[in-house]
Amino acid sequence: MLSKALTLPSLEFYCRMDVFETIVDLRNKLNQHNYNYYVKNSPEISDKEYDDMMAELVRLEREYPQYADPNSPSVRVGSDITNEFRHVAHSTPMLSLGNTYSKDEVRDFYLRIKKQLNEDFEICCETKYDGISISLIYIDGELAQAVTRGDGLTGDDVTNNVKTIKSIPLKLHGDYPARLEMRGEILMPWKSFERLNKEREENEEPLFANPRNAASGTIKQQNSSVVARRGLDAYLYYVMSESLPSDSHYENLQYAKSLGLKVTGSIKKCRTLEEIFDYIDYWDVERKNLPIATDGIVLKVDSLTQQRALGFNAKSPKWAIAYKFQAERELTKLESIDFQVGRTGVVTPVANLAPVLLSGTIVRRATLHNEDFIKTLGLHIGDMVYVEKGGEIIPKISGVEQSPGSIRGQKVEFVKTCPVCGATLVKYEGESAYYCPNDSACPPQIKGKIIHFITRKAMNIDGLGPETVELFYNKGLIKDVADLYDLTEDRLIGIDRIAERSARKIITSIGQSKSVPFSRVLFALGIRFVGETTAKRLATELHSIDRIMAATLPELMSVTDVGEKIAQSIISFFKDGHNLSIVSRLRDKGLRMSEDSAPKSNGNSLAGMTIVISGVFQKHSRDEYKKIIEDNGGTNTSSISRKTSFVLAGENMGPQKRAKAEELGVRIVDEEEFLAMIENNQD
Ligand code: IVH
Repeated sequence: MLSKALTLPSLEFYCRMDVFETIVDLRNKLNQHNYNYYVKNSPEISDKEYDDMMAELVRLEREYPQYADPNSPSVRVGSDITNEFRHVAHSTPMLSLGNTYSKDEVRDFYLRIKKQLNEDFEICCETKYDGISISLIYIDGELAQAVTRGDGLTGDDVTNNVKTIKSIPLKLHGDYPARLEMRGEILMPWKSFERLNKEREENEEPLFANPRNAASGTIKQQNSSVVARRGLDAYLYYVMSESLPSDSHYENLQYAKSLGLKVTGSIKKCRTLEEIFDYIDYWDVERKNLPIATDGIVLKVDSLTQQRALGFNAKSPKWAIAYKFQAERELTKLESIDFQVGRTGVVTPVANLAPVLLSGTIVRRATLHNEDFIKTLGLHIGDMVYVEKGGEIIPKISGVEQSPGSIRGQKVEFVKTCPVCGATLVKYEGESAYYCPNDSACPPQIKGKIIHFITRKAMNIDGLGPETVELFYNKGLIKDVADLYDLTEDRLIGIDRIAERSARKIITSIGQSKSVPFSRVLFALGIRFVGETTAKRLATELHSIDRIMAATLPELMSVTDVGEKIAQSIISFFKDGHNLSIVSRLRDKGLRMSEDSAPKSNGNSLAGMTIVISGVFQKHSRDEYKKIIEDNGGTNTSSISRKTSFVLAGENMGPQKRAKAEELGVRIVDEEEFLAMIENNQD
């Protein structure tokens, strides 16, 4: 016995214990910082410190998989594994609410409750969030399941996606019950929505009409790392458990808050109709300052006993009602219609309106989406139309006001030919949009393709922008993206006052673009439906342009997230002789056409040099830079010493590294300068 008691655990055991403790410590700290940032809105550390802590946790969890935890804060970053959405039955149905747009009906609701209860009562008023409803189930304080509303009885299990939403705690604090179900709304804040739509616009992907559609499209994503990037949020408004501390809905929400859950902030108990109307009027104005979309007010009888006494209708509770805000709309005159042609040839009708003030901005144009939309409205030029902003960012026309007997202008018909090049428009099966098929010669399509090609996320050609592209195109200098690589400083100087310095910058930048990774070249080609993420997937899984061009439909569809529509589009892109010739010319110019091909710059420009890499880079990953250094005869080391030739520094270079470099007088070189060093040594 004694000898056993004296046996000491091995050194390895102690090390492991240290690792485990470090992992637990990092998880606790990250959970607390998440809560401070996303729920309390008061961060205590910088983003950089947070990211470093998270990176350390991910590293340790990867190295020690035996300490995995399905609710570690590291799951917030999501994963590439395809989600399957199991159908799950709700413990109690997820009901909807009776809706009204009128204060009279709010009065009727109040008076009905008063009559039926025939005793004192309070109404809990809350803002109505415009997202998608979710049920979160916490078992022993851990998030066990997240299920969408579905048909109210069964929904989709979207747990992996929901775990990436940082305002939803993975573990509760404090005195939680064994089982707690929290219902609420998943939302896409305005900021995330605008960023996402901007990205989609750049990729010519269809825009989300409003944050609700964006949130719903996001939560059903197959890939949780996409969800993690899109910046969703959640507000919770209903607690369910066998052991709740109070009979008051309001108090139970405060209790949920004490467990770390993000509960609706704009909540107030009212006793009189006047108080309720004041609340409605206040939030109808103040909601415009909220970071998320709201579309009304929810009124709930506060006492759970009284809620039970009032009961339910078939689809909604009798103890609650939603008062919806009127969408802001104004009447104005439809002056004319433009048909705009985008980079992919899609033709979009846009209404030109007599200027009108709507929610603080002057609206002059509104989208008319497509032919079906115009037909449904039955528009004529000169009609008085309603413009609405509602939850949408792009104003839309929501109706026509017809004064009886008025003589109407010309009926709006969708054009049959391209308004720019005159080609007969086509429609693809299953789509409501019309396209101009003349993709190799229709000017807005060509210019659009070149503008897409040079953007930061594609070839990142600085010094060129939409106006210069327009200018070069009009002067006949470029007719397609491959022509960019034939430009020289001499040909540019003097064109519309382009100075020597700008010409040099443009040409250097075009030269540097030859070393962007293959996935970005693929994205830059502007294949319909191949956005940044799809291009990355294709590059990682099929490696080279030759394999992509030779791939069959099923081979393309075997790539993650590539469905039939994308696969078909890739096949038809590479069937086109014009596209093939552009790809071949770009290849001849030295652009990267496979994942692992190093940039053309293999040489000896870094021979004998010792280089330290630090920070985050725009044009290549750190691993790519390591390879570039080796391919050019240099050596990459991790710490700075007197022997270091220079530090290749990206954004956020570590402060200690910077101080050390300065102390030892080691030169700091940025990405551009570094690439130019190699570039200058080519050929
Ligand atoms: S309570 C049984 N409170 O509105 C009561 N719902 O139109 C359940 N919603 O399905 C709902 N904000 O998705 C409640 N503060 C709030 C809400 C809210 C938004 C949504 C919810 C519901 C829909 C009904």
